[in-house]
Amino acid sequence: MKFLGLLFLIGILSFPSILGKQEGCYIAAKGSLHFPANFSFGVATSAHQVEGGWNEDGKGVSIWDDFTHNNPGLIMDGSNGDIADDSYHRFDDDLKMLTDLKAGHYRFSISWSRIFPNGDVSFKNQAGVDYYNGVIDKLLANGITPMVTIHHTNMPLEIQKRGGFTSSMIIEYFVDFATELFEMFGDRVKNWITFNEPWNFCNFGYGVGLIPPLFSDPGLGDYLCIHNLLKAHGAAYRVYKEKFFQKQGGKVGIALDTNFFSFTNSSDEATFERAMQFNVGYLAHPIFSKDGGYPPVMVHDIARNSLEEGRFRSRLPTFDREWRDIIKGSADFLGLNYYRSSSLIQSSGPVGTSPSFERDLSVESLTDLHACNPEGLEGVLHWLRKEYNNPPMIVTENGWRDDELKIEDDERVAFLKSHLQAVLNAANEGCNVYGYTHWSLVDNFEWVFGFSTKFGLYAVNRTSPVLERYPKKSAHFYKKVISSRVSPNKIIV
Ligand SMILES: *[C@@H]1O[C@H](CO)[C@@H](O)[C@H](O)[C@H]1NC(C)=O
Ligand SMILES: *[C@@H]1O[C@H](CO)[C@@H](O)[C@H](O)[C@H]1NC(C)=O
Ligand SMILES: *[C@@H]1O[C@H](CO)[C@@H](O)[C@H](O)[C@H]1NC(C)=O
Repeated sequence: MKFLGLLFLIGILSFPSILGKQEGCYIAAKGSLHFPANFSFGVATSAHQVEGGWNEDGKGVSIWDDFTHNNPGLIMDGSNGDIADDSYHRFDDDLKMLTDLKAGHYRFSISWSRIFPNGDVSFKNQAGVDYYNGVIDKLLANGITPMVTIHHTNMPLEIQKRGGFTSSMIIEYFVDFATELFEMFGDRVKNWITFNEPWNFCNFGYGVGLIPPLFSDPGLGDYLCIHNLLKAHGAAYRVYKEKFFQKQGGKVGIALDTNFFSFTNSSDEATFERAMQFNVGYLAHPIFSKDGGYPPVMVHDIARNSLEEGRFRSRLPTFDREWRDIIKGSADFLGLNYYRSSSLIQSSGPVGTSPSFERDLSVESLTDLHACNPEGLEGVLHWLRKEYNNPPMIVTENGWRDDELKIEDDERVAFLKSHLQAVLNAANEGCNVYGYTHWSLVDNFEWVFGFSTKFGLYAVNRTSPVLERYPKKSAHFYKKVISSRVSPNKIIV
């Protein structure tokens, strides 16, 4: 969920969709009309958004439990994730949707505080372990590959009290947690994602301060968060390779938030490149580039800006040689979350406040919340292919938001169709992309948007005592793509 980027933009622009919401929501097929044999179709959720059972069976309090309980006014509909879709008690109902779709993989996350209530691995909650063992075993029994996100936006409140991602102790906490998960579940889980959307998590949590932990420290706190997060990611990857890979043979990657930028004037090409380096390269360059470290343009410009602000030291921290090498190459695949593109616009003056990521970037763009830009997904895949020597890639999130319940969700069908076609086109044109994961399996607690925003292929009847799930039109469409494996443009529902 590219959630807060949107919230942030609501205030700045209400970009009217002059040509209608679904402008450009189509992309022509290029090349083969069949998905490669090893291409996997899946769906995604995250623990806090679906599980509920927030204080049951020994689970500890998470930063999102704390945040929603104390700040209901900051959630669009005043709701919280206490019950969510109640997947903690109703995973079998989730499984029914997954088997109905014939999903190849299911991406879900593990609630850190359900297994380790205060975050410290010295104190394990067996009920939490049992829950995830059940989920994993049921998926495998139904031929569905589990793909586990270790950290998806949420974390134990106790660790946050010690500074969270602004403290370097998070590296040890995270590595301990990941190690325990590899140890307990790695015999069956072969696809691990360390972090989900680091940029969103750090920018909105530690820079802008719109989500927990609500730190407002732009251009400093967010950069420190990403720095520690990259170290935690790299260190966890090395542990897997050294201690688990030989026995378990799995893959460890990361799910980066990506964006693409459209422009009409060819003089904007340099601006486009700059925007891509700051938005995608920021996290991808340290891991996937030949040299490692942050993109040179960021290192240079943020150092210059910092100096101009009278600082002796750049606000963008530096990796020493050792950390640079730990992080460089620390992923077996690149997971990308893609929702929409932005249009570059001529800025009429300084961008953002000083200091901030926006000021350091100094590129202005417009984003339409309801944009459908499949060519941007194809574009990002090609950009990553060229920039990082075509790493194995998988779309870990992509989806359409409805602001009200729609069962005949034709917009989502068109969105899914065109984005799947974009992925197939990219694969046909040489991008090493081997899977697609739709966000989301089912309508759920969409963070600050509460339940008012719907991303699911399935709906939940929230007045039904059993929170009954039922398919939208898009679920029928996706099912047909998965069973036929042909170009989505050829499929009609
Ligand atoms: C999938 O298969 C293609 C060729 O059929 C191959 O080039 C690619 O490396 C495979 N990808 C994965 C992740 O196995
Ligand atoms: C393209 O950008 C350049 C430099 O900003 C400007 O001089 C030119 O008028 C632009 N062309 C169009 C067609 O907008
Ligand atoms: C939702 O559940 C309520 C209570 O069981 C039921 O009366 C209603 O018909 C359901 N709505 C839908 C759309 O299924």
